Amino acid sequence: MRKGIILAGGYGTRLRPATSIISKHLLPIYDKPMIYYPLSTLMLANIREILIITTDRDVELFKNLIGNGSQWGLEIHYAIQNEPNGLAEAFIVGENFIKGYSSALILGDNIFYGHDFHLILENASKSKKGASVIAYRVKNPSEYGVIELSSDLKPIKVEEKPIKPASNYAITGLYFYNEDAVEYVKELKPSKRGELEITDLNNEYLKKNQLNVLIMKRGYAWLDAGTHESLINAGQFVHTIENRQGQKIACLEEIAFRKKWIDENSLLKSINNYLHTEYGEYISSLLDNNSV
Ligand code: DAU
Repeated sequence: MRKGIILAGGYGTRLRPATSIISKHLLPIYDKPMIYYPLSTLMLANIREILIITTDRDVELFKNLIGNGSQWGLEIHYAIQNEPNGLAEAFIVGENFIKGYSSALILGDNIFYGHDFHLILENASKSKKGASVIAYRVKNPSEYGVIELSSDLKPIKVEEKPIKPASNYAITGLYFYNEDAVEYVKELKPSKRGELEITDLNNEYLKKNQLNVLIMKRGYAWLDAGTHESLINAGQFVHTIENRQGQKIACLEEIAFRKKWIDENSLLKSINNYLHTEYGEYISSLLDNNSV
């Protein structure tokens, strides 16, 4: 069984004053809080036991919103990271939770969308290799972790925010690791910017020839929401797709119901929480057998 971690710490300093008193991950992306999107991704990967890492300042708000996750057939736990000491620190903060398990780590501001995306997730989740990362072509690779690939698409090098990127392939904020991750992270040293870098962890797996790369091609969307610009872009993207199709992205009740993790009674309870809302109407429509 694989466990999930959502990293939703930090103080969203680049988004102040919008984040002066609240976690970025609780701000809305169109019609639902940002954290719903990474949660939906883990659910689509069939991961049901999830640790949310956030700050002392914000943890009560997350608990109010999400609770123990049973309304979606999940088991949610919480842990605190008060200083943003780097993405790889998730494995130190979450050590007790994931020790002995393989894991999937997702950044709380990453949004994935695309046809049959669950197949990519299931492949990554099933991979026998030590770690799997997802590469996605971007215009501005210098702003991300970048992966260089050989002609047969094997990983050659991974680098964090290189000034001269070796390729246009960014590494997305969704990582699958075997149970060795905790031990590898303990050996890492903070980078020049003082963080335990996820790229250094990925390099450890690469050195051991245990890094698997999946490429998310055209037709998929991968968005992050770390700036005002990317936040509104993400909101507009979700709005456009949902309005055109009449189907929601990251409706957690829908995913849980379709996976049969919750029954009609749980769905009815959720509907009651969202009376007179479009979200509530959407959940109600799931009870209609004709909805696909
Ligand atoms: O989005 C993908 C990129 O995410 C990768 O390509 C990079 O390799 C990776 O380093 C990371 O880069 P960012 O510059 O986007 O990371 P950022 O510091 O903005 O943090 C991403 C999310 O993780 C954000 O929602 C805040 C949260 N976070 C970050 C750090 C450093 C934490 O919860 N704790 C932390 O210590």
